[in-house]
Amino acid sequence: NTGDRVPALIIGSGYGGSVTALRLAQAGIDSHIVEMGRDWTTPGSDGKIFTATASPDKRGYWLRNRTKQPVSNFLGASIDKDIDKYAGILDAENMGAINVYQGRGVGGGSLVNGGMAVTPKRSWFEQILPSVDANEMYNTFYPRANATLGVTNIDQAWFESTDYYKFSRVGRKVAERSGFKTTFVPNVYDFDYMKQEEAGAVPKSALDGEVIFGNHHGKKSLPKTYLAQATATGKVTISPLHRVTKVAPAPGSGYGVEIEQIDEQGNIVATKTVIADKVFFAAGSVGTSKLLVSMKAQGHLPNLAGAVGQEWGTNGNVMVARANHAWDATGSKQSSIPTMGIDAWDTNGVFAEIAPFPAGAELWISLYLAITKNPERAQFQFNSSTGQVGLSWTQAQAQKSIDLAKVVFDKINKKEVTVYRSDMFGSNKVWNDGLTYHPLGGAVLNKATDNYGRLNGYPGMYVMDGSLVPGNVGVNPFVTITALAERNIANIVANDLH
Ligand code: FDA
Repeated sequence: NTGDRVPALIIGSGYGGSVTALRLAQAGIDSHIVEMGRDWTTPGSDGKIFTATASPDKRGYWLRNRTKQPVSNFLGASIDKDIDKYAGILDAENMGAINVYQGRGVGGGSLVNGGMAVTPKRSWFEQILPSVDANEMYNTFYPRANATLGVTNIDQAWFESTDYYKFSRVGRKVAERSGFKTTFVPNVYDFDYMKQEEAGAVPKSALDGEVIFGNHHGKKSLPKTYLAQATATGKVTISPLHRVTKVAPAPGSGYGVEIEQIDEQGNIVATKTVIADKVFFAAGSVGTSKLLVSMKAQGHLPNLAGAVGQEWGTNGNVMVARANHAWDATGSKQSSIPTMGIDAWDTNGVFAEIAPFPAGAELWISLYLAITKNPERAQFQFNSSTGQVGLSWTQAQAQKSIDLAKVVFDKINKKEVTVYRSDMFGSNKVWNDGLTYHPLGGAVLNKATDNYGRLNGYPGMYVMDGSLVPGNVGVNPFVTITALAERNIANIVANDLH
């Protein structure tokens, strides 16, 4: 409420925010999380909390009048449809030449992601974040993050036998026949639960295609792990449907934080100002970058480093699909949780998730989300005439992702005598280069902040999320975001919070 003073205010409840809340609470510090999305705990009129993957309603998308499906077409025709404007779970945020997909709600991206929990190769980690002690990361903080997130591996015998991973086995077979290595990928999904789904013993979630609009069961999203532990301490309060719009030094000490409360249709119903002794930016790469860049440009936080808003990247994301032969069926039954990747990072700069396409019918499609070693970066810029923050990313910058992925999939297509599908991302469009699921950067560690996320010039202000990672982590990012937050908050608790 207006006028309140809190010891620690955390902007956003994704990975960075959840780690921060838990570790502050364990250190005895009360915190308040401000989250712009809903708390996804109450069912709609159909008795379900989340909307179905195949036919999303308003619960699927953040404040839009029309769906924006990542795989947008079938046989060249758009499958998007009109919906009511609502504070839905997945934001397809348009940032000029790119749509940045992000989770909205208590739990952030953990509500909508595929749960792939990948620790990057140490050599690549050392290249992108050279100021971080890699020994400490790989001995202490990655293990801590994986344990607290509940990361596990699929039972390989079950993987080999279930109909639901036929798509992965076909993806593996064709990749290996072309000389590419494949690898099992850990996940936060409860694979014992998944087995019971197959046996018909429990309600289906992954085996019913649930993922990008939320999972009712099985996935250990942050509200079941870090946030559950954090709130159980009694020292963490969460305000959903509250959006931070301004942060500036308060007279005396601390920071004044302006917050808009919105309703489920996105209308502003109240504005509040609270004072916080410490402010943790954990609004995600785009959310944190937008806030910092606009506060600096408008003179509210003029002393922020020049590196704020720089070195943003897409993690080299590009999607592509291949059409298999009739004898390589990928299955009418597909688990929505990916468990295998093509690891051609060292040879080709490509790590490709063998992705499901759970359409409920046999389509012989192999879908891939490729993470590529694309070196292109972009900047956030404040536009004083609109008052908005834009991103300089151009479509041409995605070409490098396509070029890298094309070498891998051209080789597979040549060997298999198969072709790309060109009807799934538009009509006659092979490469889906207009989106990213993995925005990274904008407040890079040891550049925009000190080596532990402290914002230069503003004692008590910190960055704790994906904006710390410079543009490309080579694998799916949330384990790294979590581990880095664990590392930084340990240092902050030890040194800043007496
Ligand atoms: P995150 O985005 O998680 O959290 C930020 C939170 O802040 C959000 O809840 C947001 O609503 C809130 N917020 C933003 N601005 C605010 C403001 N001004 N005021 C209040 N609140 C604000 N990664 C991976 O490792 N494996 C995977 O399988 C996948 N799969 C995947 C699928 C899909 C569809 C998506 C969209 C993403 C993935 N990801 C993924 C990516 C992963 O989810 C992502 O990298 C992390 O969620 C980022 O964590 P952060 O803590 O940086 O921000």
